Amino acid sequence: MKLAIASLLACSAAAFAPSIQTSRSSTELYGRKPFISGNWKLNPQTKEEALKLGGDIAASITEDSPDADVALFVPYVFIESTMGVVGDKLSVGAEGVCPEGNGAFTGAISSSMLDSIGVKWALAGHSERRVIFKETDEYINSQCVKLIEQGMSVMLCIGESLAEFEQDLAGSVCAVQLKKGLKGVTKEQLSQVAIAYEPIWAIGTGKVATPEIANSVHATCRSIIADMYDDEAADSVRILYGGSVTPESVDELMSQPDIDGALVGGASLDSEKFARIINFQV
Ligand code: PGA
Repeated sequence: MKLAIASLLACSAAAFAPSIQTSRSSTELYGRKPFISGNWKLNPQTKEEALKLGGDIAASITEDSPDADVALFVPYVFIESTMGVVGDKLSVGAEGVCPEGNGAFTGAISSSMLDSIGVKWALAGHSERRVIFKETDEYINSQCVKLIEQGMSVMLCIGESLAEFEQDLAGSVCAVQLKKGLKGVTKEQLSQVAIAYEPIWAIGTGKVATPEIANSVHATCRSIIADMYDDEAADSVRILYGGSVTPESVDELMSQPDIDGALVGGASLDSEKFARIINFQV
């Protein structure tokens, strides 16, 4: 499998020509503010560890750090205490939300509950939620709409499986997930949305998409947004890359014109690694 993916990436890098032949970053070209975010998933296992990790990450943001938005998406139970240790250095978001407002939904957390404790961001559509928890595009759409109506922001995650990538379906999969996920979201409300392109084959596998592949799919996503809304919307929406981002890969990814940030899983659990990612160099 390793060899298969390696040769696949080698071939595909040529097939996916960068949309714009330049090494200038997205911020330089379009003024989109970089956005570095961590997704802790089902980690860490104790409140003490969460506070230590959150505190160490916040401490790595200094006046010399890039002018970027930084967010940590953390398990619900750690949200408030993590907010307490990070102060205003970064935003602490939720890993999900129940699209229902209230009522008989055991185990669920609503957007108003999150809003009431000061949460500004939540994830929707992560591939682990789609695959393991069987969340559909319709459900993900209702999460997006609910969060936006609540006045919050949503990071909509999209991305294709390895089989789809091999069949050259990345763009088509992203088109369906974007169109269904953002159904009913107006152009004005897009300012409350960030997109995270996370190819499933790159998540937690150590197989980061080459910057060229990632940038090419980001450019495709941007043209889908242009079709759905207009060029202004496409130029202003932030599209983050996710999937095995590391201190070693972040600089080149962030140098791509259509990559505006990173959604980081594994490396966001290591404060030194995540510090280097936050302090990316372009
Ligand atoms: P990873 O996870 O960085 O561990 O690949 C990314 C994600 O799932 O958001």
